[in-house]
Amino acid sequence: MVTLRAVAPMFEPETVVARGGAEGQARASEGPARASEGTVMPALADASRRAGLGALATRIQGLRGWLAADLRALEEDLAAVGADGTDLAWAAARHLMGTTGKRVRPICVALAARLGGRLADAPVLAAAGAIEMVHNATLLHDDVLDQGETRRGLPAAWMVYGNAASVLGGDHLLVAALQRVRGLPVSVQHHLVDVIGSMVEGEALQLARRGRFEPDRAAYLKVVQGKTAALFRWALHSGGVLGGLDAAALEALTMLGEALGIAFQLVDDVLDLEGDPAVTGKAAGADLREGKLTWPLILAADADLDLCAAMAHFAAGRWADEAEEAQAAASLVRRVASTGALAATRAEAAGYVATAREALQRLPAGAARDALDTVIDTVLARSH
Ligand code: IPE
Ligand code: IPE
Ligand code: MG
Ligand code: MG
Repeated sequence: MVTLRAVAPMFEPETVVARGGAEGQARASEGPARASEGTVMPALADASRRAGLGALATRIQGLRGWLAADLRALEEDLAAVGADGTDLAWAAARHLMGTTGKRVRPICVALAARLGGRLADAPVLAAAGAIEMVHNATLLHDDVLDQGETRRGLPAAWMVYGNAASVLGGDHLLVAALQRVRGLPVSVQHHLVDVIGSMVEGEALQLARRGRFEPDRAAYLKVVQGKTAALFRWALHSGGVLGGLDAAALEALTMLGEALGIAFQLVDDVLDLEGDPAVTGKAAGADLREGKLTWPLILAADADLDLCAAMAHFAAGRWADEAEEAQAAASLVRRVASTGALAATRAEAAGYVATAREALQRLPAGAARDALDTVIDTVLARSH
């Protein structure tokens, strides 16, 4: 069994420490997002070795070293976002932006640019920063929609600043991201606008289906292509454009991004059910509580009609207390797992990873392609 700690450090830049002064330093001990590299790396290396992932851990460390300067520049850039903003919406945005996620999307931008031999100069960093800002904007919005109470190991922004500030904070970040890409090639800018549109459509479609408990696989894929895969596609495609890659390579990058994004969401769906909240930084069972039919829940509902009804009952349920709810959720997760749905979802994700790897083979060989190969492995192996 893979431990997340084996993959966690990949996306943490080597020299980044928790931001936000004394408050930020205090939070640094609270969750995985703020774990400092100095103390965590040896533990992560041990954990990965114990999990039989020594080789992957070594590759991840190599990648971290290789991208260290880029990641440092990215973090400096992101730390300044909204620093002058005085309203509550910016406070909500900074609440989230003050935590460090895995940074998988900006890393994809930087690696796709390197495929064409372009290092992380100002335009590449602008694209990398913009994608992380769009991603964070959608998290601010998504946690309001999903009533996700915990994000990156801390209370979600809406829990602290309220729904309105969280939504407007996301809007601030979207605007700031679009401003940031202004100097980039027009196609990159236009694609980003379309991607934001796809993300809104994906979340809107998901909202329309919430609580309906129809195990509709086509609808699920449409949602995921919009809410998750679109941004991965942009990461790889825009990096490739900046790297000066030809049309065939850009097509391969688009395919890679699409497949990687779908795999990423499938694994996320599994982690909602079997992940450790102390590691994922998110509450467990949020999708169940919300009545969201994720891929494992669709498979489980198809396999067992009674279970489908039990999931609907759970989502609509009123619980005497948290303990009773947690017990009901744990029993549902056991029933879902007993249908084989979690393993089947991981297998489905592996299928998309295979597609991503096929696309990778059509790209120029070299260190950047090897690094993307590591990213692909990490998406499947991740535990947070
Ligand atoms: C979470 O994305 C949202 C999904 C698309 C599942 P990440 O798992 O990349 O979140 P952070 O940035 O690392 O927190
Ligand atoms: C991905 O879906 C959401 C976004 C693309 C913003 P989820 O709702 O599963 O993401 P988490 O689990 O809250 O991170
Ligand atoms: Mg969510
Ligand atoms: Mg999720």
